[in-house]
Amino acid sequence: MSLDETAQPIDPQTLAPLDTVTGLEPEWWRTAVIYQIYPRSFADSDGDGIGDLPGITRRLDSLADLGVDAIWLSPFFTSPQKDAGYDVADYCDVDPLFGTLADFDILRQKATDLGLRVIVDIVPNHTSSAHPWFEAALVDGPGSEARSHYLFRDGRGDRGELPPNNWQSVFGGDAWTRITEADGTPGQWYLHLFDSSQPDLDWNDEWVREQFLSVLRFWLDRGVDGFRVDVAHGMIKRPGLPDYTPPADAGSMGGGQEAAEPPPYWAQDGVHEIYRSWRTVLDSYPGDRILVAEAWVDPLSKLANWVRPDEMHQAFNFSYLESGWKASSIRRVIDDSLEVFASVGAPSTWVLSNHDVVRHASRLGLTVENPQGAGIGPKSKGLPDRAIGLARARAASAVMLALPGSAYLYQGEELGLPEAIDLPDEARQDPTWFRTEGARYGRDGCRVPLPWEAASPAFGFNTTGESWLPQPSDWAAYARDTETGDPSSTLELYRLALDTRSRFNLGAGSIEWLTGYGPEVVAFRNGDVTVIANTGAVPVELPVAEELLSTVPLDGAALPGDATVWLRA
Ligand code: NOJ
Repeated sequence: MSLDETAQPIDPQTLAPLDTVTGLEPEWWRTAVIYQIYPRSFADSDGDGIGDLPGITRRLDSLADLGVDAIWLSPFFTSPQKDAGYDVADYCDVDPLFGTLADFDILRQKATDLGLRVIVDIVPNHTSSAHPWFEAALVDGPGSEARSHYLFRDGRGDRGELPPNNWQSVFGGDAWTRITEADGTPGQWYLHLFDSSQPDLDWNDEWVREQFLSVLRFWLDRGVDGFRVDVAHGMIKRPGLPDYTPPADAGSMGGGQEAAEPPPYWAQDGVHEIYRSWRTVLDSYPGDRILVAEAWVDPLSKLANWVRPDEMHQAFNFSYLESGWKASSIRRVIDDSLEVFASVGAPSTWVLSNHDVVRHASRLGLTVENPQGAGIGPKSKGLPDRAIGLARARAASAVMLALPGSAYLYQGEELGLPEAIDLPDEARQDPTWFRTEGARYGRDGCRVPLPWEAASPAFGFNTTGESWLPQPSDWAAYARDTETGDPSSTLELYRLALDTRSRFNLGAGSIEWLTGYGPEVVAFRNGDVTVIANTGAVPVELPVAEELLSTVPLDGAALPGDATVWLRA
């Protein structure tokens, strides 16, 4: 056979030039492992108890060492911090809490030097109420142009004393707040799907659209590799803003609602033309810049609409995050994900934790349902056993990191950090906690500052010992320096998994299911790697093969429950 006869058709992507910004391969995002940094809680250089950009820059080497491909930074923009920075008062500046634009440039340069891409957050659904656009809307009055950028409406009732509809805020309570007009009279109401400090923009307004195209360009010009788009399923509301009552078991962000007709504030068709225009902007830049959607849309076949070829590049796979530790659910969601994302030419993503959900080292050990956004605290029912939660988290992460596509890690999961459950009430800061008067704990428990050094103040988060949320006293055991070099640690497990994933090119692979291990086992082959995860309690007999990675020490030829092994196929 001549060489010509065996040649495969050439994929034009393989001929694409190297990225002009970083010199790295194009389409890096199809297989990338992307690490979420929550700036408030990563590393604090000035000792005020809140993390900052220089702190991140100093600790970036540890992420390159971990083996990730990119970082995503949660918001660090000018903000009153009513929702930890998801309330933006200036999209094109850095809040002094976190540093300056020059600090951002230094961070980005260091990341590039280390071969790490940088994705920033963009929050288009709402601004802060301290944004000059909203302040002008309050001053200028009903019918003004400034007001038309937001969703102001007259109230119902004889004197406009009732909210315009029955919508509830994601964080609890009414989604409308009534203002006092400049002349002192009770006035119109404005919509806020989140906190009252986060007024929703009206995305039918052309002016709003233009402003955000400028914001994209501002950060693209500064060299970012992409944007994580906050609430990417919420920007357009159904005309007429009709009343709507969600099912009792719906997640706060809309997940779990598979009805043909979506809620009037989530997943409206009109959002797609916005992303098409954004995509055009990104494509006009050199390099390979991406958009990733935070869209809590079910089922996955609907979410695929966010990543059609002319829209976003990726969408977080929250169906995967919500599939729990049950083999049949995990298999189903993997199959669905690979099929539906491939049908539109997008890679699947995989995600188990982020700053809005209970950390998976605790979540996978819960014995009662915990809808997204509810959080857990000392009085929650069905609290997890820490050892079981950690064993499952390690096993689940080992499944995730063997899958083809792109995986997202949330800071601290590589240390096996649990949710901080026992935070004192007076320390809590999530608006959910306040707006539900303590009925929902919210998300503070997954946002506690990271432990770096067991023996340092604030476990090395800074040098002063200050911490905006108190760190549990037993976190020395999870500190990065404690775990470094300990082959049984979660940190070393992640490093081995990322290295092996890269050596065997698992991100670019495809999976073939393996049968015969029983209903409680997830078993598949990805290229030269066989992955076997036992979600049950009964040990599973393993084939004889070289062990590449195991989440537990293997004693003989059986895989115990709550464990995953990678074998050389
Ligand atoms: C989703 C973000 O991830 C969350 O933290 C925030 O509270 C809401 N969007 C509102 O911006």
